[in-house]
Parts: sequence; structure tokens; C-alpha cells
Amino acid sequence: MEVKERIEKLREELEQHNIDYYIKAMPTISDSAYDFLMKELEALEKQHPEYYSPDSPSQKVGGAINKSFENFRHERPMLSLGNTYNEEELRAFDERVQKGLGTTEYEYICELKFDGLSISLHYEKGELIRAVTRGDGVSGDVVTDNVRTIRSLKTELRGNYPDILEVRGEIFMHKKAFEKLNQAREEEGEKTYANPRNFASGTLKMQDSAEVAKRPLDIFLYEILSAEETDSHWKSLERAKNWGLKISSDAQKCNDIQEVFDFIHHWDKERKNLGYEIDGVVIKVNHYHQREELGFTAKSPRWAISFKFKTEAACTQLRSIDYQVGRTGSITPVANLEPVLLLGTTVKRASLHNADEIERLGLRENDFVFVEKGGEIIPKITAINLDLREGDSSPIQFITHCPECQTQLVRKEGEANHYCPNTTSCPPQVIGGIQHYISRKACDINSIGAETIKSLYEAKLIQNVADLYSLTFEQVLGLERMAEKSAQNVIEGINKSKEIPFHRVLFGLGIRHVGATVAKKLAQQFKSIDHLASASFEVLEAVDEIGGVIANSVIEYFSKEENWEIIQMLKSAGVQLEQLDDGMQALSDSLKGKTIVISGVFSQHSRDELAQMIEAHGGKKGSGITGKTDYLVAGDKMGPSKLAKAEKLGVPIISEQEFIDLIS
Ligand code: IVH
Repeated sequence: MEVKERIEKLREELEQHNIDYYIKAMPTISDSAYDFLMKELEALEKQHPEYYSPDSPSQKVGGAINKSFENFRHERPMLSLGNTYNEEELRAFDERVQKGLGTTEYEYICELKFDGLSISLHYEKGELIRAVTRGDGVSGDVVTDNVRTIRSLKTELRGNYPDILEVRGEIFMHKKAFEKLNQAREEEGEKTYANPRNFASGTLKMQDSAEVAKRPLDIFLYEILSAEETDSHWKSLERAKNWGLKISSDAQKCNDIQEVFDFIHHWDKERKNLGYEIDGVVIKVNHYHQREELGFTAKSPRWAISFKFKTEAACTQLRSIDYQVGRTGSITPVANLEPVLLLGTTVKRASLHNADEIERLGLRENDFVFVEKGGEIIPKITAINLDLREGDSSPIQFITHCPECQTQLVRKEGEANHYCPNTTSCPPQVIGGIQHYISRKACDINSIGAETIKSLYEAKLIQNVADLYSLTFEQVLGLERMAEKSAQNVIEGINKSKEIPFHRVLFGLGIRHVGATVAKKLAQQFKSIDHLASASFEVLEAVDEIGGVIANSVIEYFSKEENWEIIQMLKSAGVQLEQLDDGMQALSDSLKGKTIVISGVFSQHSRDELAQMIEAHGGKKGSGITGKTDYLVAGDKMGPSKLAKAEKLGVPIISEQEFIDLIS
């Protein structure tokens, strides 16, 4: 088969799998089979850039870095909806509709009210050309690259679509994905998001769409503008489905307000079983000519309204605040509450996230607070009941010292969390750090449970990850409730972890901001722990996807004597601290086919580092200047003959900084 044909076939197949997975929710192949096809497509596209297409499924996993978002004025403003909170208000809306139309002959379409961010998509000749956020309703940000990463979104329509089309809908994140990603952020010492909506909105505004692609967003479209060929919303939704757009199948046509109530009651109960959050129901007049008759108020249409579900809240008194110390030393305040019944369970604790949240709430000692259950399992405090506040209560003072090891806490500028800096001997940090080291994505020592690590630490048998390797069978067997077979497995598991590749060990070390992906990047680039440890800030930052925060964190880690001792112990134990395979994966293609000669002494990097950088970006390091040399990177004290030769052959001479600019 011709390459072009194969590419087209793969694109078609993958597109179909995307539809099966994301729209029909009925995948026909496994995730790994999908990845396999995607990898093949990516490889072929890389080898044959002439067949590039922005609509290829491969382009949905990342894209260009947008420095800032362009602003776009909506052709028709993106209005909000009037809200109703009870049946009476909804009946009043229905009466207004009836009066406005002067008839009882109208239908409603009831839809779920997705709790995300609204977006306007512009298609021309069936191709997505622009995606704009709501912004202030009049104009919004153009976030097309980021929106393109949403796999359930059609960037190319099929069938009989109008030439020019605008559709509006909601972008959101599934509850499961939110919990998983938020947990990963917490483990990596990053700020967590309060709910899926915030996570989705933070994601959509990210500058780097490759990052966006890693955070699974989803979309439902619910308004079809420029659909002049139909006379009703219902028919438009049907048509839009045929174009491949993702329309919720839970929308329902209702003939009277009673049917609307039935829909609302059904979803009020059922919403907990949905994979995403909804905060109500939207009720819309179906026929366009009737919508036109009803028109708009200044803020919202008269033909639609939302019914907001009640969030069950309870009021109870704050008893005290516990401060939990996480693996990375981050401090999370947790409120202890007077037990109260909420949606069938007794609530005793609620997360307060961080000092900012306590401040935002204006929380004082012994306050009465409202607790609500959102999408997450842990309830949250949403407001203070000021009517019940004691007059002389004092504001909550965030702790200044670690509750576990009494070290003074730090809070870095721009960060929401307080941290305990005592990474090496603060018990929850040490135990959490070792638990992280043995976890599946790191060294995968599954014969040891989290509790065993705690027992080993409390028995003073381990103080750090390296101590695992000097444990003896007898020591492990000596732990309470430890059977012989289990002790054997523990020792075997530890020994086996010596085969775990460097990048996973690096992840296991638990360096702040170095998650599994970053660890892989660093391992590929630096090849060994020694190279990584000696890299300067500039060298680290020059690596694709490594920013200043990560670079600083790596430098800080290696600047600590205690960490070096652990690394030396791991080395002597035979743990992989070097990348074994020499198949270096390129960081970019920016120097593909280029031969570059380095000469002289440089201020930012050593010559070795520069050579590594050339290779990592797909280029070749040349030894002497010839007609085939593409660049000469010239440092101080460079031999005059080299310079003369380069000038004679017309080889561009660039500085170290120009070289760095070239690859970033
Ligand atoms: S229709 C003229 N339908 O709710 C209003 N909106 O308060 C057109 N939303 O900004 C919006 N689900 O972000 C509509 N099925 C749905 C919706 C929905 C969620 C959001 C949307 C809008 C807000 C209105």
C-alpha cells in the first residue's frame, strides 16, 4: 500500500475509533491497540511531512504553543440564562411563554445543564476554523488549538452541513479524570483544583496545547446557530448529530410543563450516576419562529430558562482544624466539625484546601459553617453562617510550624500551599516518600504494602528509600503479623526493583514537580543521575517542557547532602541510575538534517552539554568545518583558522545564545 493511502486509512480508522469511544461510548478496540495505530500514524506523518493535515487525529494530542490568546467578537452575544430554583418560578416562566405566544401550542426541549465552560465553535465548509470562549459575552479568547485536542470534537464535519456554521456548547471534565489528575497533581506537589469545572477552565486557558491534550476534556454541543434549514431546535440537534457533532442523548422533547417537571425530577435523582457534573436542567422553546416571537431581555433569552438543582447543604459548628502533612510536605488544613447528617451520611470533616481558602471564607474559631457535597467525596465548606457567629471569636491563625516535626513552615511566593521543608526527617514525608518509591509507576515493589513501610519506619529499620536495600529477611520477619512467605516476597521484590529503568527510579525519588513524564524527559536527556545532578539551571530549562519551577526543584534536590548520600547508597545497592538503552529519543526535530560544529569556550554550557543538545534536537555534531556544516557555534577563545574557514565557506556563525534560541 502507498504511504499516502496508509496514512489516510489510519486517519479514517482512528477517527472512527474516536467516535466509537467518545461519542457512542462503545469502543471496539483496546486502548493499547488504539495507541499502536496512533503511533504508526504519527511515525508515518513524521517521515512524510508533505502529508501533514491539521485535522489528522494525531493533531488532537498537542499542538503549537500559543503565547497569548487573540480576542474575537461574537457575532451574536453569548448570553446567560435566567435561573429558577423552584417549581413556582418555573411555572411563572411557562406562563410568560404562554402569554407571549398567545397559545398553548408550543413544545419545550429539556436538556441537562452541563457544569463547564461555554464555547462557540465556528466551522467553514465543514472545517473547524475557530473556537472562542464566552469571555464577557461580547467577545472571548480564541482557543482553537486547545479545543482541537478534545478527542470527541469533530474538526471536520461530514454529511450535509451548511457552509458557514456556528455551534455552541459546553466543555467539561469527567469526574473520574478530574479525581485522577488532581490526585496526581497533589502527589507531585502541584496545586489542586477545587472541582472539575475549574480544572477544565484552567486547562482551556493553558498556553501549551500539548499540556492540554494530557488533560482529557469533553464537550457537548447544545445550540446550533445558522441552522436556517430547519424550523426547530430538536431538528437542528438531530442534524448536528449527523454531522458528527457530539450532542447529548439525554435531551427530551416535552409537550407541557408537567413533562418538564418529570424530566427535572428524574435527573435530580439520576445525576449522581452521571460521569460528569450537571447543576440543573435547561428548558428551551423548541420552534425557532416562537423563539423569535419571544425575543430577549438585555441579559438572556425569554424562550429559555435554567432550573438549578438544590445543592444539599447542612449547617454545623467548627470544632478544630487538623493540619495534614503530605508526601511532598504540603500542608492541608482539614476542618473537624460537629457531626451533621448530609444526604444520608454523617459529615465530620471537610477539606479547607489551604490558607487562601480559609482567608477567602473568613473563617473564625467556633464558627457555624455550611457544608455541601459537590462532585467529590469529601464535603466542602461553602460559607459561614454569620448569624450564629460568637461576637468575640478570633480569626483562624494558620500554623507556623509543622505539626509532625515542628520545623518552621515555608510558603513560596505565588504558591497556595505551605510546606514543611524538612524532607529528610519529617515522618509523614519520609514514609510517604518511601511509599511513593515503591509505587506502581515508580519502582513497583508490590510485595510491600503502604502499612509495611510505616511499620519498617517505626521500627527504625528504614529512614529513606536506600535503606530498603539493606533490609534482611530476619528483620522483615520480625515485624508484627509478618509471615515467612510474605517476608520472602518483600526481599525478593526489593531485589527485583534493581532492574527498574532509570527514569522510573528518578520518578520514585519524589523530587518535587518531577512527575512520571518529566522524569522520563530528564532521563532521556541526561542519561544518568550524575549528568542530571551537574546540570545548571539554564541547561535544565533548555530541555523541552522543563520550566523554571522544575529546574529549580531539581537543583534544590541535588544541592542537599542527604540526598546525595541516598543516591550513593542506591548506586552501591545496584539500582539503575543510568539509562541503559542508548536509543536516545529526540526532544524535537528542530535541527533535523543539520550538522553543527562547536568551537571555543562557552559561558552557559559545557561543550559536552551543547553536543548533547544538538543530538537531542535531531542534529549531528560535526568535528571540522566543511561545505556541509550548517552552523558554527562560536565561543570565546576560538581558533582563528576555524573562524576564517567558516567565513570563507559562508557557514553561519552563531553565538551560544543564538543556538539556544534556535532549539527553543
Ligand atoms: S443554552 C442563550 N444549554 O449555562 C443561552 N446552556 O447560564 C444559551 N449551559 O452560558 C445557552 N448546559 O455555559 C444551554 N444544555 C445547555 C447548557 C447550557 C450548560 C451553560 C452555558 C450557559 C449557561 C447559562
